[in-house]
Amino acid sequence: MQNLLADSEMKPMVNQVEHHPYLTQKELHQFCKEQGIEFEAWSPLGRGRILTDPVIVELGEKYKKTPAQIILRWDLQNEVVTIPKSVHKERIIDNANVFDFELSIEDMQAIDGLNRNERFGQDPDKLDF
Ligand SMILES: NC(=O)c1ccc[n+]([C@@H]2O[C@H](COP(=O)([O-])OP(=O)(O)OC[C@H]3O[C@@H](n4cnc5c(N)ncnc54)[C@H](OP(=O)(O)O)[C@@H]3O)[C@@H](O)[C@H]2O)c1
Repeated sequence: MQNLLADSEMKPMVNQVEHHPYLTQKELHQFCKEQGIEFEAWSPLGRGRILTDPVIVELGEKYKKTPAQIILRWDLQNEVVTIPKSVHKERIIDNANVFDFELSIEDMQAIDGLNRNERFGQDPDKLDF
Protein backbone atom coordinates (compact mmCIF):
# COMPACT_ATOMS: atom_id res chain seq x y z
CA MET A 1 0.00 0.00 0.00
CA GLN A 2 2.83 2.40 0.84
CA ASN A 3 4.50 1.73 -2.53
CA LEU A 4 1.21 2.22 -4.32
CA LEU A 5 0.48 5.49 -2.53
CA ALA A 6 4.00 6.75 -3.20
CA ASP A 7 3.75 6.05 -6.93
CA SER A 8 0.20 7.06 -7.82
CA GLU A 9 -1.57 10.36 -8.27
CA MET A 10 -4.89 9.04 -6.96
CA LYS A 11 -5.54 7.07 -3.79
CA PRO A 12 -7.49 3.83 -4.10
CA MET A 13 -11.04 4.24 -2.77
CA VAL A 14 -11.19 0.73 -1.36
CA ASN A 15 -8.86 -2.09 -0.38
CA GLN A 16 -10.43 -5.55 -0.51
CA VAL A 17 -8.39 -8.11 1.38
CA GLU A 18 -9.06 -11.41 3.09
CA HIS A 19 -10.63 -10.56 6.43
CA HIS A 20 -12.61 -12.60 8.96
CA PRO A 21 -12.32 -13.49 12.66
CA TYR A 22 -9.30 -15.74 12.01
CA LEU A 23 -7.51 -13.00 10.01
CA THR A 24 -8.34 -9.60 11.45
CA GLN A 25 -5.55 -7.57 9.75
CA LYS A 26 -5.73 -4.82 12.38
CA GLU A 27 -2.56 -3.02 11.26
CA LEU A 28 -3.61 -2.84 7.61
CA HIS A 29 -7.14 -1.81 8.59
CA GLN A 30 -5.80 1.01 10.77
CA PHE A 31 -3.49 2.15 7.96
CA CYS A 32 -6.40 2.24 5.51
CA LYS A 33 -8.50 4.21 8.02
CA GLU A 34 -5.76 6.80 8.41
CA GLN A 35 -5.51 7.10 4.61
CA GLY A 36 -9.29 7.38 4.12
CA ILE A 37 -9.39 4.11 2.17
CA GLU A 38 -12.41 1.86 2.72
CA PHE A 39 -11.47 -1.56 4.04
CA GLU A 40 -13.48 -4.40 2.48
CA ALA A 41 -13.57 -8.02 3.58
CA TRP A 42 -12.80 -10.74 1.08
CA SER A 43 -14.28 -14.03 2.33
CA PRO A 44 -15.90 -12.40 5.36
CA LEU A 45 -17.21 -15.78 6.58
CA GLY A 46 -13.89 -17.50 5.96
CA ARG A 47 -15.60 -19.33 3.09
CA GLY A 48 -18.12 -20.60 5.62
CA ARG A 49 -15.47 -22.37 7.71
CA ILE A 50 -15.71 -20.09 10.75
CA LEU A 51 -19.44 -20.60 11.22
CA THR A 52 -18.87 -23.56 13.55
CA ASP A 53 -16.35 -21.78 15.78
CA PRO A 54 -17.56 -22.32 19.38
CA VAL A 55 -17.20 -18.62 20.33
CA ILE A 56 -19.23 -17.53 17.29
CA VAL A 57 -21.86 -20.25 17.86
CA GLU A 58 -22.19 -19.25 21.53
CA LEU A 59 -22.62 -15.58 20.62
CA GLY A 60 -25.26 -16.60 18.09
CA GLU A 61 -27.19 -18.33 20.88
CA LYS A 62 -26.77 -15.30 23.16
CA TYR A 63 -28.06 -12.77 20.60
CA LYS A 64 -30.51 -15.20 18.93
CA LYS A 65 -28.75 -14.71 15.60
CA THR A 66 -26.99 -17.06 13.20
CA PRO A 67 -23.19 -17.41 13.33
CA ALA A 68 -23.03 -15.62 9.96
CA GLN A 69 -25.03 -12.69 11.33
CA ILE A 70 -22.67 -12.43 14.33
CA ILE A 71 -19.61 -12.19 12.05
CA LEU A 72 -21.27 -9.73 9.67
CA ARG A 73 -22.39 -7.52 12.57
CA TRP A 74 -18.83 -7.59 13.95
CA ASP A 75 -17.68 -6.34 10.53
CA LEU A 76 -20.21 -3.51 10.50
CA GLN A 77 -19.31 -2.36 14.02
CA ASN A 78 -15.65 -2.45 12.99
CA GLU A 79 -16.43 -0.29 9.90
CA VAL A 80 -15.50 -3.08 7.50
CA VAL A 81 -17.39 -3.29 4.19
CA THR A 82 -18.69 -6.84 4.04
CA ILE A 83 -20.35 -8.72 1.18
CA PRO A 84 -20.84 -12.42 1.96
CA LYS A 85 -21.59 -14.92 -0.75
CA SER A 86 -24.45 -17.41 -0.67
CA VAL A 87 -26.38 -19.26 -3.36
CA HIS A 88 -29.29 -19.79 -0.93
CA LYS A 89 -32.10 -17.22 -0.95
CA GLU A 90 -32.90 -17.64 2.77
CA ARG A 91 -29.24 -17.18 3.74
CA ILE A 92 -28.92 -14.07 1.56
CA ILE A 93 -31.95 -12.58 3.33
CA ASP A 94 -30.66 -13.63 6.78
CA ASN A 95 -27.18 -12.29 6.06
CA ALA A 96 -28.66 -8.84 5.37
CA ASN A 97 -30.65 -8.89 8.60
CA VAL A 98 -27.96 -7.51 10.89
CA PHE A 99 -29.22 -4.04 11.73
CA ASP A 100 -31.50 -4.88 14.67
CA PHE A 101 -28.91 -5.80 17.28
CA GLU A 102 -25.56 -4.64 18.60
CA LEU A 103 -22.64 -6.67 19.92
CA SER A 104 -21.25 -5.49 23.26
CA ILE A 105 -17.66 -4.23 23.48
CA GLU A 106 -16.71 -7.42 25.37
CA ASP A 107 -18.22 -9.62 22.67
CA MET A 108 -16.53 -7.60 19.92
CA GLN A 109 -13.25 -8.18 21.74
CA ALA A 110 -13.99 -11.90 22.10
CA ILE A 111 -14.32 -12.15 18.31
CA ASP A 112 -11.17 -10.03 17.81
CA GLY A 113 -9.43 -12.55 20.06
CA LEU A 114 -10.07 -15.37 17.60
CA ASN A 115 -7.44 -13.96 15.24
CA ARG A 116 -4.74 -16.48 14.35
CA ASN A 117 -3.52 -14.93 11.09
CA GLU A 118 -5.02 -17.85 9.20
CA ARG A 119 -5.71 -17.49 5.48
CA PHE A 120 -8.11 -19.52 3.38
CA GLY A 121 -6.98 -17.75 0.23
CA GLN A 122 -3.52 -17.04 -1.12
CA ASP A 123 -1.05 -14.86 0.77
CA PRO A 124 -0.34 -11.82 -1.46
CA ASP A 125 3.11 -11.46 0.13
CA LYS A 126 4.01 -14.93 -1.16
CA LEU A 127 2.35 -14.76 -4.56
CA ASP A 128 4.51 -14.68 -7.67
CA PHE A 129 2.84 -11.82 -9.56
N1 LIG B 1 -13.42 -9.35 -6.42
C1 LIG B 1 -13.59 -10.49 -7.01
O1 LIG B 1 -13.35 -10.63 -8.20
C2 LIG B 1 -14.09 -11.65 -6.25
C3 LIG B 1 -14.33 -12.82 -6.90
C4 LIG B 1 -14.78 -13.87 -6.22
C5 LIG B 1 -14.98 -13.74 -4.87
N2 LIG B 1 -14.75 -12.59 -4.25
C6 LIG B 1 -14.98 -12.49 -2.79
O2 LIG B 1 -15.33 -13.75 -2.35
C7 LIG B 1 -16.26 -13.63 -1.27
C8 LIG B 1 -17.35 -14.66 -1.43
O3 LIG B 1 -16.94 -15.92 -1.45
P1 LIG B 1 -16.22 -16.85 -0.40
O4 LIG B 1 -16.81 -18.17 -0.61
O5 LIG B 1 -14.79 -16.72 -0.59
O6 LIG B 1 -16.50 -16.26 1.05
P2 LIG B 1 -17.56 -16.10 2.22
O7 LIG B 1 -18.59 -15.09 1.85
O8 LIG B 1 -16.70 -15.88 3.39
O9 LIG B 1 -18.27 -17.54 2.44
C9 LIG B 1 -19.20 -18.04 1.58
C10 LIG B 1 -19.56 -19.44 2.08
O10 LIG B 1 -20.35 -19.35 3.26
C11 LIG B 1 -21.60 -20.00 3.06
N3 LIG B 1 -22.62 -19.19 3.69
C12 LIG B 1 -22.97 -17.92 3.37
N4 LIG B 1 -23.92 -17.48 4.20
C13 LIG B 1 -24.21 -18.50 5.06
C14 LIG B 1 -25.12 -18.66 6.13
N5 LIG B 1 -25.94 -17.68 6.50
N6 LIG B 1 -25.15 -19.84 6.78
C15 LIG B 1 -24.32 -20.84 6.42
N7 LIG B 1 -23.42 -20.75 5.42
C16 LIG B 1 -23.38 -19.59 4.74
C17 LIG B 1 -21.78 -20.10 1.56
O11 LIG B 1 -22.50 -21.27 1.23
P3 LIG B 1 -23.78 -21.24 0.24
O12 LIG B 1 -23.40 -20.41 -0.96
O13 LIG B 1 -23.98 -22.68 -0.05
O14 LIG B 1 -24.90 -20.61 1.01
C18 LIG B 1 -20.32 -20.23 1.07
O15 LIG B 1 -19.90 -21.59 1.18
C19 LIG B 1 -16.80 -12.25 -1.28
O16 LIG B 1 -16.47 -11.66 -0.06
C20 LIG B 1 -16.08 -11.56 -2.42
O17 LIG B 1 -15.57 -10.37 -1.93
C21 LIG B 1 -14.32 -11.55 -4.94
